[in-house]
Amino acid sequence: MGASVLPPPSFQALLFSFSIFCLLPGHAFAATRHYKFDIKLQNVTRLCHTKSMVTVNGKFPGPRIVAREGDNLLIKVVNHVQNNISIHWHGIRQLRSGWADGPAYITQCPIQTGHSYVYNYTILGQRGTLWWHAHISWLRSTVYGPIIILPKPGIQYPFAKPYKEVPIIFGEWFNVDTEAVISQALQTGGGPNVSDAYTINGLPGPLGMVHALPFGSPYKLGVEDGLGCLGWKASQPEVDSTTS
Ligand SMILES: *[C@@H]1O[C@H](CO)[C@@H](O)[C@H](O)[C@H]1NC(C)=O
Ligand SMILES: *[C@@H]1O[C@H](CO)[C@@H](O)[C@H](O)[C@H]1NC(C)=O
Ligand SMILES: *[C@@H]1O[C@H](CO)[C@@H](O)[C@H](O)[C@H]1NC(C)=O
Ligand SMILES: *[C@@H]1O[C@H](CO)[C@@H](O)[C@H](O)[C@H]1NC(C)=O
Repeated sequence: MGASVLPPPSFQALLFSFSIFCLLPGHAFAATRHYKFDIKLQNVTRLCHTKSMVTVNGKFPGPRIVAREGDNLLIKVVNHVQNNISIHWHGIRQLRSGWADGPAYITQCPIQTGHSYVYNYTILGQRGTLWWHAHISWLRSTVYGPIIILPKPGIQYPFAKPYKEVPIIFGEWFNVDTEAVISQALQTGGGPNVSDAYTINGLPGPLGMVHALPFGSPYKLGVEDGLGCLGWKASQPEVDSTTS
């Protein structure tokens, strides 16, 4: 009499499913991280020159992406400016997600005014500091920022814990609109005008370094061309990535 009930799951079955769960490293603790990049104009002043320029979320340099190895990233880019835009995640291995790589007219059509695109990719087998930048025309001169990939939880970097970690990004500042610089160069066939300053974290000359580092301590920086560096007092940056 009465409704039949399913037998309770055996202890062995529970143990078995638990082991399967544990056998999937990188999936068991991976998170999905959401970011929103609003491409918008912002007035920025450097070298006593103010110009309206294309930025992400009004920031220059743009926001940091922070994730752990194994995480899935969903970055929604919304274009509020007149320029076409696309964003490239420099050094990220796009494994089966080539459509998230970002070079305009190569892996995607650019995101047009008023449109958006969600970059969806998973960070596999990489740790360290990389960067993202616009990948169309010269918009990358103002549209860029760091990507910080932490190891999986409980896994250390292969060096002593640094005293402090600060991303350091080199760039160039032009007093004029960089789209005018590249279009003039393309029209004349000559080289583009040189920039007015080199920058560190968006600030000209040594100013960026002064902002980034506390005064009076010796620092050792790990730097790799085109890849960025990971903290300091580190003997080797651990950047397992390829330039692209
Ligand atoms: C930039 O400054 C100009 C002149 O003051 C102003 O008209 C414009 O609205 C400003 N743009 C932004 C995005 O704040
Ligand atoms: C923006 O992208 C669209 C689609 O690729 C293209 O037709 C259009 O010419 C582009 N606009 C500019 C200003 O490059
Ligand atoms: C992101 O890509 C993965 C793998 O292709 C897919 O399973 C997932 O549904 C995608 N997420 C979104 C929000 O589109
Ligand atoms: C490039 O430099 C030349 C020479 O100084 C100047 O005449 C020209 O206006 C500059 N181009 C731009 C786009 O600023």
